[in-house]
Amino acid sequence: ATAPESWDRPLAGKVAVVTGAARGIGATIAEVLARDGATVVAADVPAAGDALTQTANKVGGTAFALDVTAPDAGEKLAAHLLERHGGADIIVHNAGITRDKLLVNMDAARWNSVMGVNLIAPRKITDVLVEKGALKEGGRVIDVSSIAGIAGNRGQTNYGASKAGVIGLVQATSEALADKKITVNAVAPGFIETAMTAAIPVATREAGRLMSSLQQGGETVDVAETVAWFANPASSAVTGQVVRVCGQSML
Ligand code: NAI
Repeated sequence: ATAPESWDRPLAGKVAVVTGAARGIGATIAEVLARDGATVVAADVPAAGDALTQTANKVGGTAFALDVTAPDAGEKLAAHLLERHGGADIIVHNAGITRDKLLVNMDAARWNSVMGVNLIAPRKITDVLVEKGALKEGGRVIDVSSIAGIAGNRGQTNYGASKAGVIGLVQATSEALADKKITVNAVAPGFIETAMTAAIPVATREAGRLMSSLQQGGETVDVAETVAWFANPASSAVTGQVVRVCGQSML
């Protein structure tokens, strides 16, 4: 590992992209990376509008409208990073969606949309950034998986498969990018209190909290600090790993 030049601002001089940064976990990741000194490019769907601008302003970074599933998302992002910043040091694939349905009603549209955002987009975007030289040597790829990709939830075959896929993805990509000294890791949050989980019924939400060995929901900052640790120069010996945040799942 390399000790950062400043322990107060270990990411000073680094450029970090966070997808899905308009709200929730992504917005907090943007804040924490900026606190650590990174210049943050906050990306989210064009419809995120004002919320994305607010995140960008709050962290002193820039907003970048990007639907990660757009066919040219990687190319668009690579061009932007090279032109404005000479490339990025850190990419956090945080954008994610749920489209829950019991297996019998799990139609192709629900399956494909969740796979598209949660699994296919991170792979494609990382590949293109590396290919175009928009992710620097010694860089960091940090994916947001989920406990649902380890333990499984009823009604989430699509989501669980996509998040389990992310774990396989980071392990394989960490091997592929090791020669460039780019580390690739994932955080697997348990139940975290955000808009995504606020949308589920109260009883299910409470069950989610109790499924953690800690018997509580996590906060967005719990996830963000783990991401910041993966991004830190001092974690350069850590790659291909998955860190669970918010207890051991009792599933
Ligand atoms: P959220 O729904 O509050 O925020 C997700 C953000 O991603 C939104 O701003 C949304 O506009 C953006 N997004 C969605 N599709 C996009 C696309 N195609 N292109 C660009 N941006 C897109 O969700 P939350 O809770 O903050 O989740 C963030 C990540 O953490 C997701 O990957 C989620 O699966 C994961 N996660 C969340 C947990 C929780 O309990 N909240 C638990 C485990 C994982």
